[in-house]
Amino acid sequence: MEHQKTRKKRHKILVIEFSETEFLEICDILLERYEIQQMCFGEEVFSLIRGSAPDLILLDCETKKLDWYKVVKSLKKDDIAAKIPIIFINRSAKQAEILKGFKLGCADYVRKPFEPDIMRSKIATQIELSDYRNHMEEMLMREKRKVVKVTLEAIHAIAQAEEAKDSYTNAHSERVAEYAVCIAKKLGWKRERIELLKNQALLHDIGKIGVPDNILNKHEPLTDEEYETMKLHVKIGSEILKNFAGEKLYVGALYHHEKWDGSGYFSGKKGEEIPIEARIITVADAYDAMASERIYRGIMDKEKVKEELIKGSGTQFDPKIVRLMLEVIEENAAFS
Ligand SMILES: [Fe+2]
Repeated sequence: MEHQKTRKKRHKILVIEFSETEFLEICDILLERYEIQQMCFGEEVFSLIRGSAPDLILLDCETKKLDWYKVVKSLKKDDIAAKIPIIFINRSAKQAEILKGFKLGCADYVRKPFEPDIMRSKIATQIELSDYRNHMEEMLMREKRKVVKVTLEAIHAIAQAEEAKDSYTNAHSERVAEYAVCIAKKLGWKRERIELLKNQALLHDIGKIGVPDNILNKHEPLTDEEYETMKLHVKIGSEILKNFAGEKLYVGALYHHEKWDGSGYFSGKKGEEIPIEARIITVADAYDAMASERIYRGIMDKEKVKEELIKGSGTQFDPKIVRLMLEVIEENAAFS
């Protein structure tokens, strides 16, 4: 009968700031089970961690060359390094030193002279705990992504229902989202940030669900009172979206009627105080409102739309976003 051997993952240990003699001693104890790499502390340590993070860091805390407290602190400040367990070597066995190591966030310590079995056991325990923690974190992230996806789908369904009852809009939010994504790409944003902006744009007018149909679909100009009611869609929308776990979905809904000069509603924020996501949505929203066919106005000429955007640049709109929107219009014949 053929036996299949499962190859266990060989964990990596980064050894920082040991003398060559001690490094060889550590290799004697650990090399059979682990990959070992030695380094002096510096930028290379962070480059290594970004490239292929070790599973554990073994740190010499009594090197004369550097302050080990500072080393631990800077490792704990780094997003990736902070998750790697650190075991420090304590030669003097001073209790204060050991306590300080734990307070700084080190996982454990080993003594000099090395006791091979204890050292191997402590290292194995910390790596096992860290693997388990990483596995649990991954599982939680996967579950969170699933919940976010399902909730987003539900919210989008509500938004579509809202658009269906507003006879003026006709897929307006989808187009606003499409323009917003083009602008964000020009700003060089990363995929996750663009995805959030897309959802913020798709849902910017979700609060209209709370505005009566007779106001939403009125062909004549709104009275002052009706206009005040219409303005409330900003607050209603942000209330619907603000409890959405872990995502700033409400930002587009809450701030998309703010103006660059501070004369918008409701926060009165101006310039860069207004979140950039909302400044992008404002320009995309205005462009689509002007460029799309509306029952009460008909289609506005493309050059006229561009003129209106330029006219509002610096008062209603962020000038940088207007510039990018004009580029987007020029580059995409379908958007004209
Ligand atoms: Fe709106």
